[in-house]
Amino acid sequence: MKLENEAHFEQDVETLIEEIKQQYGYDFSGYSRASVYRRIKRFLSQKHLNSLEQLRGHLFSDSFFFENFLQEITVNVTEMFRDPSFFLSLRQNVLPILSTYPFIKVWDAGCSTGEELFSLAILLQEEGLLGRTKIYATDINQKVLKQAKTGIFSATNMPAYTAAYYAAGGKKEFASYYTSNYGSVKFDSALVKNVVVYPHNLATDSSFNEFHLIVCRNVLIYFNRVLQERVYSLFDESLVSLGYLALGKKETLAMAGISNRYTAVDKSNRVYRKTN
Ligand SMILES: C[S@@+](CC[C@H](N)C(=O)[O-])C[C@H]1O[C@@H](n2cnc3c(N)ncnc32)[C@H](O)[C@@H]1O
Repeated sequence: MKLENEAHFEQDVETLIEEIKQQYGYDFSGYSRASVYRRIKRFLSQKHLNSLEQLRGHLFSDSFFFENFLQEITVNVTEMFRDPSFFLSLRQNVLPILSTYPFIKVWDAGCSTGEELFSLAILLQEEGLLGRTKIYATDINQKVLKQAKTGIFSATNMPAYTAAYYAAGGKKEFASYYTSNYGSVKFDSALVKNVVVYPHNLATDSSFNEFHLIVCRNVLIYFNRVLQERVYSLFDESLVSLGYLALGKKETLAMAGISNRYTAVDKSNRVYRKTN
């Protein structure tokens, strides 16, 4: 497909981002442009549109179409026990300390369709902490949040998830957590009894509670430095003293303004503790 020349394209994307903010309140100005350009081009191609002008027409006259666009821009790819060593690290380095607390609050920021949420809940359950833990699972995207709490996932992924669960130090028969029903599985709803799922936009919303553990993985990679700094400050405000910030392998606090207050508990899985 032939797009407007690249300079115009980039300029027009800036205008589009501003218009989206005005009309729908979503602020993508701090998203990494490489990813935004790639996603918009892919979306144009999927929808058989030839220009940003055509895209504008649909976006601003059809909120359902905008929902589809949001799915594309926000990248919802996820897995259960994704990067198992991350969960093993939480199990070995973080949960034993949290187990000394009378109650625990966890924020799963950018939880997507719930695979990470259920992985965390299983981990907490196996370490005997789920009953006194409240998990707040948030995402910008309301559509994924609707799915997140259902705990219904495709059965095709179960062999891979089972292997990841054991690599993460899983202690039980993984299949004991879910029931299968034609092509899909449903995880035990008791796992999310103490879970609150609701929309929160890391680009624009404020701190809403104080947490002992914040998990945010594969989200900040889509943001530019300025927005990343905003989010790190937001997490800093939202963590109790000696709380844990768990970013996973793809993100790092290394260059962040708040880094001098944090100590790496696990350098490779980027698990930090707020020590100052
Ligand atoms: C690639 S998924 C990562 C899901 C999960 N954390 C994982 O690692 O498997 C990125 C998630 O971040 C969410 N997201 C993107 N921008 C966001 C924002 N500004 N505020 C909150 N969530 C956002 C997306 O909707 C998506 O569900």
